[in-house]
Amino acid sequence: TGSASFLRELNPNRVEATKREALLENPGFGRVFTDHMVTIRYSEGRGWYDAKVVAHGPFSFDPATLVLHYAQEIFEGMKAYRLPDGGAALFRPDANARRFRNSAERLAMPALPEPLFVDSVRELVRVDREWIPRTDGSALYLRPFMIATEAVLGMKPSPDYLYCVVATPVGSYFKGGASAVTLWVSENFTRAAPGGTGDAKCGGNYAASLAAQAEAIREGCDQVVFLDAVERRWVEELGGMNVFFVFADGSIQTPPLTGTILPGITRASLITLARDLGLTVREEPYAIDQWQADAQRGKLVEAFACGTAAVVTPIGKVKGRTHEFTIGDGNLGLVTARLKSALLDIQNGRAPDHYGWLDRL
Ligand code: PLP
Ligand code: COI
Repeated sequence: TGSASFLRELNPNRVEATKREALLENPGFGRVFTDHMVTIRYSEGRGWYDAKVVAHGPFSFDPATLVLHYAQEIFEGMKAYRLPDGGAALFRPDANARRFRNSAERLAMPALPEPLFVDSVRELVRVDREWIPRTDGSALYLRPFMIATEAVLGMKPSPDYLYCVVATPVGSYFKGGASAVTLWVSENFTRAAPGGTGDAKCGGNYAASLAAQAEAIREGCDQVVFLDAVERRWVEELGGMNVFFVFADGSIQTPPLTGTILPGITRASLITLARDLGLTVREEPYAIDQWQADAQRGKLVEAFACGTAAVVTPIGKVKGRTHEFTIGDGNLGLVTARLKSALLDIQNGRAPDHYGWLDRL
């Protein structure tokens, strides 16, 4: 299914260029949306149909619509970057397409064909390419999602779905920009249990993390870090980011993909780039007590969070009911900075793209 199959019903009331440029100066995160969105419908028997680009705007739903009650919803997060030659590129959209399909399977939703997913995102970026910010560190964030649309309260997978992609120009995810963040170790709440939906990108996971995140904010921290649900001991991930540990011997470590954490595309890319830089990378469990002991002894010198929204964000401090420690000098470390530049240089077209990760539009 090529992009030729998207019907374009272009927005007659586009945001005027001067206003758009002003919005792009300081977009924040997910507050400002572009002129268009993509929608595709699905129904049992008929399959995927009615793929189109329309004006970004509200939907109207029956109050009984399934997604509003049982949260049968999945989403993705990816970015389009402005290249030095004025062109634009997506980063590894095929990986998002694959993860979206896996999430759909876990939530008993129909699989959107991967080429159709990639085409839908390309199509929106092409139509709204003027919305890709030019400032360094900014990008156009794409949010593909799928919801169950049958209006019936029976507890079963919906026969009908709506797939949609919206786009929002974004700057830094954290208010402080690139400075180090403080994590709150959640002991009251866990994020995902074995057999649950931890490795699917579904809205329910995020709803369930909000109370833990609110606790982190109350405790004066920026983000929550979750421990495993079984032993309450192994560091898993943040509410919306994966985590890496950097040791004094130059090796780095990140929790393995055992089904309870999201398989981050940033995580996978950084593992590859770190090995290219000659670093030893381990995908092994790491206990919270060990993290504290290693940080205090100087064996662990840096830690960072990573994700599409957060890019690479240094972790300066970790606090909890029974933990409190600083990592290194509490600021951005050398290895974290190198990995962040290596990734951003590829994404922004400043370094050779040896792995073919950029999808030029
Ligand atoms: N973990 C969670 C829970 C997330 O929501 C995200 C963000 O998408 C990530 C990790 C990082 O994934 P990615 O690097 O693919 O954005
Ligand atoms: C992303 O990084 O794309 C996410 O979905 C994380 C979310 C907290 C914004």
